[in-house]
Amino acid sequence: FSLKPYNTFGVEAKSRYFTEVYDLEALKDAISFSKSRHLNMLFLGGGSNILLTQDFDGLAIKLNLKGISEEILNENEILVTAKAGENWHELVLHCLGKNYGGLENLSLIPGNVGTSPMQNIGAYGTEIKDIFVECKVLNLETLDIETFDLEKCRFGYRDSIFKQEGKRKYIILEVTFRLTRKDHLIKTEYGAIKNELEQLGIQHPTIQDISKAVINIRKSKLPDPKIIGNAGSFFKNPTIPLIQFERLQQKFENIQGYPNGNSVKVPAGWLIEQCGWKGKQIGNAASHQLQALVIVNATGNATGKEIFDFSAMIIDSVKEKFGIELEREVNVV
Ligand code: EPU
Repeated sequence: FSLKPYNTFGVEAKSRYFTEVYDLEALKDAISFSKSRHLNMLFLGGGSNILLTQDFDGLAIKLNLKGISEEILNENEILVTAKAGENWHELVLHCLGKNYGGLENLSLIPGNVGTSPMQNIGAYGTEIKDIFVECKVLNLETLDIETFDLEKCRFGYRDSIFKQEGKRKYIILEVTFRLTRKDHLIKTEYGAIKNELEQLGIQHPTIQDISKAVINIRKSKLPDPKIIGNAGSFFKNPTIPLIQFERLQQKFENIQGYPNGNSVKVPAGWLIEQCGWKGKQIGNAASHQLQALVIVNATGNATGKEIFDFSAMIIDSVKEKFGIELEREVNVV
């Protein structure tokens, strides 16, 4: 089975078996089937944060559990629960349509609801941990359903328990968010949002305006995976000790950084651009010309291995020039 339609990089990789599951029973059946035959399992959500570097000798399971429900919490807050297979941006639009606030800064992020907690998706001043209440997961070993609240998820920058000890142990089935019904918290701190609102001539933005601004910004620099294969930011923004940052400042006076206590987060896009990678293509892989942090399947014919090797060259040159080791954000399979 070709997995090309199921990864936003659009790379070719085959799995020995493939199934799409629409409910919990079908998911459990697929897992039991794999266990009885000692097959490896590969779970696919929106496919927007995965790089397939070889064929998969096992069962690929595409999670299509659908449904959105809500429960009024109090006069101003509502709990919205979405199943794992709901498309993220469609959930955002659904909530904006009902004037529920909290997700607007996360507009247009590719992928599905089920993978959003794994890497604590974030953009333009919001992370899902800010509105997250809990998620229900299937324990792959016991096939029991467990609930993970905010604390148990141990969210960090692009990180959660599901990328650490919980890796390959749980399947996220649904996620519950706490959203506002009227007293919306409008988040415009992120510079690019301020500029975009100014451009649009909006002084008192609504949550719908914020969404519009974010959509405009993303469209202006992030490639649409439907047109050119990619998985958003390929690397995380590295955090380095303040002392190392200060040393780098002496050598590279334009270096940018967001201090946080004794460490500084440095924009990986800047580091990669400084190494001359922005817009550069080798074979079928390239660094996007408008955002160096995004690696694209430039010709549509890249293999996963080619993209992986391209990313390794970037890691090497950033390490050599700045002494900083970039870490991949994308899951490499
Ligand atoms: N920059 C460059 N050259 C580049 C790209 C960026 O110099 O080619 C500089 C920019 O000038 C800017 C800084 O780096 O000063 C930050 O750039 P940007 O605002 O585009 O954000 P980012 O740090 O590159 C992060 C997230 C994005 C998210 C944006 C907006 C990570 C790994 N990426 O990117 O998330 O949309 O902030 O909040 O944290 C994703 O995870 O897939 C993703 C797109």
